[in-house]
Amino acid sequence: MSAQRLEFTLNGGTCTLDVDPGASLLDVLRDDLGLTGTKRGCSEGECGACTVLVDGTPVDSCLYPAMKAAGKNVLTIEGLGDPSHLHPIQRAFIEEGAVQCGFCTPGMVLTAKALLDRDPDPDEQTIRTAISGNLCRCTGYEKIARSIQRAATKAAGPSAAAPPDETPPAGAASPLSSGEAPPSTPVTTPSLGPGAAPVAPVGHVGSSPARLDAVPKVCGTARFSDDLSMPGMLYAKVLRSPHAHARIHYVDCSKARSFPGVRAVVTSADVPGRPNYGIITKDQPYLAIDRVRFEGEAVAAVAADTPSLARQALELIEVDYEPLPGVFSVDDSLADNAPRIHDNGNLLLMRRVLRGDPDAAFAQADLIVEETFRTPLIEHAYIEPEAGLAWLDEDVLVLHCVSQGVHYQRGEIAAMLGWPVNRVRVKQATVGGAFGGKIDLSVHPYIALLAVKAGRPVKLVYTREESMIASPKRHPITVRMRLGSDRSGRLVAGEAHISADSGAYASYSYAVVTRTAVCAFGPYDIPNVRVESLAAFTNNPIAGAMRGFGTPQLAFAHEQLIDMLAAKTGLSPLQMRKLNGFQPGQAHTPSGQYIADSEGLLATLERATEAATTATAAATGRREGNDAP
Ligand code: FES
Ligand code: FES
Repeated sequence: MSAQRLEFTLNGGTCTLDVDPGASLLDVLRDDLGLTGTKRGCSEGECGACTVLVDGTPVDSCLYPAMKAAGKNVLTIEGLGDPSHLHPIQRAFIEEGAVQCGFCTPGMVLTAKALLDRDPDPDEQTIRTAISGNLCRCTGYEKIARSIQRAATKAAGPSAAAPPDETPPAGAASPLSSGEAPPSTPVTTPSLGPGAAPVAPVGHVGSSPARLDAVPKVCGTARFSDDLSMPGMLYAKVLRSPHAHARIHYVDCSKARSFPGVRAVVTSADVPGRPNYGIITKDQPYLAIDRVRFEGEAVAAVAADTPSLARQALELIEVDYEPLPGVFSVDDSLADNAPRIHDNGNLLLMRRVLRGDPDAAFAQADLIVEETFRTPLIEHAYIEPEAGLAWLDEDVLVLHCVSQGVHYQRGEIAAMLGWPVNRVRVKQATVGGAFGGKIDLSVHPYIALLAVKAGRPVKLVYTREESMIASPKRHPITVRMRLGSDRSGRLVAGEAHISADSGAYASYSYAVVTRTAVCAFGPYDIPNVRVESLAAFTNNPIAGAMRGFGTPQLAFAHEQLIDMLAAKTGLSPLQMRKLNGFQPGQAHTPSGQYIADSEGLLATLERATEAATTATAAATGRREGNDAP
């Protein structure tokens, strides 16, 4: 379809350009106009990262047809303020600490702008309703809501559409400065309610200084991986397996290689160095060799002049799969005669911890509780999908990309290419949330191989679906756990049998599953303990690092059992924890570690109890019409 002329007002100026009639407003802003402050998170109208204002109304620009903007007034984050002229809302986000990874921030700030323009003094519920279409995975909505309230308070009188403020926010670093904030600058925080904590002076231990990178993040000038580009850049796409388990007889790329606009196609045959990678165990092929072990495993990759050409070329690659029976649970994986996922068998690892004599202790226990708990696979769901750009700088390959571990990734790419590590450089772009999910390789091997093969810069951005299907998850875990106590509630014995689904490859399973064993009973002092923890391969998505490294799954189990035991003893859940929690200076974990100090459980429980009591009293008072705070 031929391009159509689009004319609209953009950030206060007239904008005229020819666009693809099927393009979204987001495509035009980012790809045609280079306004990368508007983010692409899901392209499905779900996350709100792409929010811009059209005639003052927030819209998801990923779904908004560009041609619909004709004659309208579009405001993007670039038109709101800049690092030396912050808008009051941008300033408030910095001062309240409402910016973490910053990927959601431009959309969130613009949604706040639309709200304050129509309601200069919104209450908390109105704010929360207004931002409900904007997802944030890092900050939490408390500080964001407080920022909007703060901006409203400051702009009382005129609306928050007040002119941008030229004074830098207290404690906020100029993007061009060293980031040092004046040590004695006080920052005070208006409160949404009695629970809101004031911000202490910047630069002191216990204070809340502004993030060094907050200014570029609220202005949309922070450079995330998908914001990067280079002249002559090619666009990559990855062909992924539709089968969870299959043998590959051949991969024929001849048609794709001769397709107009295609500059490079790679398969495992193009990996000149070590064929497999992995954080601890090198068991995952960069590109599938003769077998795929999960749905979505990468088989081939293409670099072409445009994303559309690369996508079309993928359809020309012929793969002869022979589907194999799959296993989709740990029990099935470890059953006799289960299909083998790896040559060494399906059991990845086993960890055992033994302390004291648990059998004797259970025999003498007055009270015993036992239950089986299952926790599911969990997707990290960072708002920024994986992306990266690779290019050759003379004989050095540079990757500028998402990363939580540039040194690990550098080593893996060098090994894949068979190059010395000093010929590979990995630069971390601003990361739009990770939570452990960006430690593993993602786009890295594909852009590296394609950039070397094509001799041109290559960029790859995962779709949301691809990010979900190809990235590691939190381990699904089944735990059968038993606790025994004496009549007073003092724990005397614990036992746990833990099985974790590692999915198709090992990733971080060794570390995660070891942690489930040594932390199986959390911060509770139990003199007699037996733990058996294993991980098995299945044809499910790969499980890897995620916040807490296996301990949240176990906390779910032992906290339930502590409550069940408390009910049997007649103690309150709090009394039960105080009785059995690690005492300062006397904490010995089941694996023999002595924790000399800082475990803080009892002090935390005390303070949490106080806060909960106060909050409950306040809520009860409010419900009864009591004016007490
Ligand atoms: Fe548009 Fe997510 S809603 S990118
Ligand atoms: Fe909101 Fe990271 S700060 S998604």
